[in-house]
Amino acid sequence: MAPPPLRIDLLRARARYLLALGALGLPVCKPSPEASAQTPPNPHRPGSSWQVPSPDRGTRRTGCQSGVACIHPSRPPPAASAGPAPFQRCDTALAVAALGMTPEHHRATFSPEATLQERRTTPNACCYSWSETGCRGRPLRDGSGAALVAPSVRAPGDSALDTSPALSADPWVAQALAAHWSAEAAAEHASVAAFAREATVLRALGAPEELLRATQRAALDEVEHARRVYAEASRWAGAALGPGALPPLEALPEELPALVDRALLDGCLGEGCAALEAEHAAHLARDPDTRALLDAIARDETEHAALAWRTVRWALRQGGDPVRERLRAFRAALARGLAAPEPDWSGDGPLAPYGVPSPATARAVRRETARSVVLPCLDALLAAA
Ligand SMILES: [Fe+2]
Ligand SMILES: [Fe+2]
Repeated sequence: MAPPPLRIDLLRARARYLLALGALGLPVCKPSPEASAQTPPNPHRPGSSWQVPSPDRGTRRTGCQSGVACIHPSRPPPAASAGPAPFQRCDTALAVAALGMTPEHHRATFSPEATLQERRTTPNACCYSWSETGCRGRPLRDGSGAALVAPSVRAPGDSALDTSPALSADPWVAQALAAHWSAEAAAEHASVAAFAREATVLRALGAPEELLRATQRAALDEVEHARRVYAEASRWAGAALGPGALPPLEALPEELPALVDRALLDGCLGEGCAALEAEHAAHLARDPDTRALLDAIARDETEHAALAWRTVRWALRQGGDPVRERLRAFRAALARGLAAPEPDWSGDGPLAPYGVPSPATARAVRRETARSVVLPCLDALLAAA
């Protein structure tokens, strides 16, 4: 039996972002060819193209997967993309494909340190730091692109917190929900710092006041998300949870192209996905409090994605061709990812009544967001520029 459809309004999302771009109603706003393409079923490769590769040495620091993975290229890459000596065989684009990653879901950065260590036992190895992208709104990234979060810790001082589960559940369900919401809360908490750091870069680059204010407002939204999601985690954990300390942060480069890369990947795609995931999850949740939380997150993340589109539009006007090239490269990577075979969505998992869709649902939502929202909006922006 076919699973029920995803409960997401892609048309409304696309219209919201086209409005942010000032492009609503233009002929170029029609879905791109990829938007109407059918995904070919591929029963022989379950989860293949979207599956997170198993890290050789995991450094999981967030609810989003991340780690270090090594490959052993059998032949050198094209000369143009070869790394510096002694890493001539190491090419990030080839590695992304070889590791079964997709550009819109994973970010990979060549790691000289891990490579040198691996080469003590395996000559010619190439190692990469990688992390999942686009899974929980605006991530806080370190220099290698991996998402950073603070650990969730007991917050014994908060006696006002409701720690009684709203729905009766088996102990394993309560445990799984506590772990899920705790990871979500840590990601929301990290988003506060991500927006605060982004505001610093925008100010340094002379962004208009509207963008500065909206970025500050987004940071405050994330404060509220973190507070409410930690409360949800605490209900299921039976103890008050809160954030510990974040690791030290590196300063971001004050450059338009890098700003655009972050806005496209983590804002237009990442927060756009987060909004639609929350929208779908709100339809699943039986508990009214959980549903209200997910509805609020969906609304706010939609506005954060719209802010990312406005940021990209401003950067394009400021930066011209170099920025346009980043948009085109991002578009090409998205289209390549969508062309890869993907198993059909098989429905929501056992935690669905608690507002927690399965990982397969999250992947399906991300794919639809990329195909039916991000690509058409990118096309509209490029055509209007
Ligand atoms: Fe958020
Ligand atoms: Fe957000």
